[in-house]
Amino acid sequence: MRVIVTGGAGFIGSHFVRRQLSGAYPELADASVVVLDKFTYAGNEANLAPVADHPRLTVVPGDICDGPLLAALMAKTDLVVHFAAESHVDRSIASAAEFVRTNVLGTQTLLQAAHDAGVGRFVHVSTDEVYGTIDRGAWTEDEPLLPNSPYAASKASSDLMAVAYHRTHGLPVCVTRCSNNYGPYQFPEKAIPRFITRLMSGQAVPCTGTACTYGTGCTSTTTAGALPWSPRAATPARSTTSAVAPS
Ligand SMILES: NC(=O)c1ccc[n+]([C@@H]2O[C@H](COP(=O)([O-])OP(=O)(O)OC[C@H]3O[C@@H](n4cnc5c(N)ncnc54)[C@H](O)[C@@H]3O)[C@@H](O)[C@H]2O)c1
Repeated sequence: MRVIVTGGAGFIGSHFVRRQLSGAYPELADASVVVLDKFTYAGNEANLAPVADHPRLTVVPGDICDGPLLAALMAKTDLVVHFAAESHVDRSIASAAEFVRTNVLGTQTLLQAAHDAGVGRFVHVSTDEVYGTIDRGAWTEDEPLLPNSPYAASKASSDLMAVAYHRTHGLPVCVTRCSNNYGPYQFPEKAIPRFITRLMSGQAVPCTGTACTYGTGCTSTTTAGALPWSPRAATPARSTTSAVAPS
């Protein structure tokens, strides 16, 4: 079995790769893993250091917008797990163009390459932020998409593109929408590592909005383990996680 993991040098993607190559997912036990990563500021080779010498790991530096590269990589691939994205909300507020390029155009380029190559399953990792804001309670996955930030809008656009490739071309797509993740290897611009690193050095913690703005979260282990990569997983084109707000 051959698996392509986009964004596999980032926070959650590298967690998935480390866990997969250490045998955490029995159905992928013998799979070879190709990490495709552009190594932006968020991609870090050190995130893959524990498995760097693994015989079933290949790391390809490259861009998900690069159609010819994707066509070359995608042949004989059984599964694509798509983590690659511009992922930081604040950066999207400062400048949104790269978010549209990578998250929307990059996802579409990847979907097309997967369709052309007849890939068996495409897992598109999205976010609960596509639903917008909720004061209390929980969303279901059928709630309308009401993204607030350019980041969330770009992810919502990519979700719709992924579902369109399923409906139009029959590509076996799953879209997942997890809430905020935290855990080891997370880039310190995100809320929890930022808070911790600032507190450790005696600095104040910046907090905009209300105390509840960040809502609930899950560890990267929870997210990676819940992905519907298995051939026996749920129906394609459904999300597997609902978003939850503080009650
Ligand atoms: N971290 C969270 O709390 C969270 C919550 C919900 C959903 N998500 C989603 O999960 C996925 C992974 O998030 P993360 O926190 O690990 O992100 P991250 O920013 O840590 O990692 C993103 C990775 O994608 C790579 N990348 C960026 N642009 C690329 C391109 N054009 N081509 C190839 N690689 C590229 C980066 O180099 C990096 O390795 C994203 O799609 C994000 O939207 C994250």
